[in-house]
Amino acid sequence: MMSVQTELTIPDGYRPMRLQDLEAVLVLERRAYAFPWSATNFSACLHAQYSAWVVQEASELVAYGIYSVAVGEATILNLCVSPTHQRRGLGQQLLLFLLAAAKTEQAQEVFLEVRQSNQAARALYESLGFNQYAERKNYYPGVGGRENALLYCKTLLDQTDPPR
Ligand SMILES: CC(C)(COP(=O)(O)OP(=O)(O)OC[C@H]1O[C@@H](n2cnc3c(N)ncnc32)[C@H](O)[C@@H]1OP(=O)(O)O)[C@@H](O)C(=O)NCCC(=O)NCCS
Repeated sequence: MMSVQTELTIPDGYRPMRLQDLEAVLVLERRAYAFPWSATNFSACLHAQYSAWVVQEASELVAYGIYSVAVGEATILNLCVSPTHQRRGLGQQLLLFLLAAAKTEQAQEVFLEVRQSNQAARALYESLGFNQYAERKNYYPGVGGRENALLYCKTLLDQTDPPR
């Protein structure tokens, strides 16, 4: 483990995403999602200086996650584990890391949206204390028609945090 500041410990294999990672990221993105992000979506996130992290095992990129923070609110924009490495705890570990990282950027709440049919992601989010607070009907394109988006949020404040 390498620690860059007192609040955030960066696990082995974690590093910020770079433009040079986009080729490998896009391969993984297209394997993991029926409706993947484009190269432009990723490069826009990097140019906007959103926090984007990759997880590498040996030379293989196995997961990545991206979030933004504005006025105390973090938004998880993408969280993806290679299909050949899923169900090993990587998604949970990466999401917990993103939450800890967002907290060091003064985020007090975190938001995300997910397809209604994405049982794996919903189970992960709910296991980490995310609560569904809204639904957007027919928000995403789907294979057999449009699909609802479920909106989740979670507070990042501990009971021990001083009032802001
Ligand atoms: C969602 C995703 C990130 C989960 O990553 P993962 O590394 O496979 O998940 P983990 O091994 O850390 O699992 C953590 C918990 O999530 C839930 N979970 C994960 N995969 C699941 C599945 N296929 N079915 C049901 N629950 C699942 C379980 O509660 C699991 O805990 P458990 O293994 O003790 O039961 C991964 O499936 C993925 O990348 N999917 C494609 C991209 C995607 O949909 N991203 C989310 C967009 S909103």
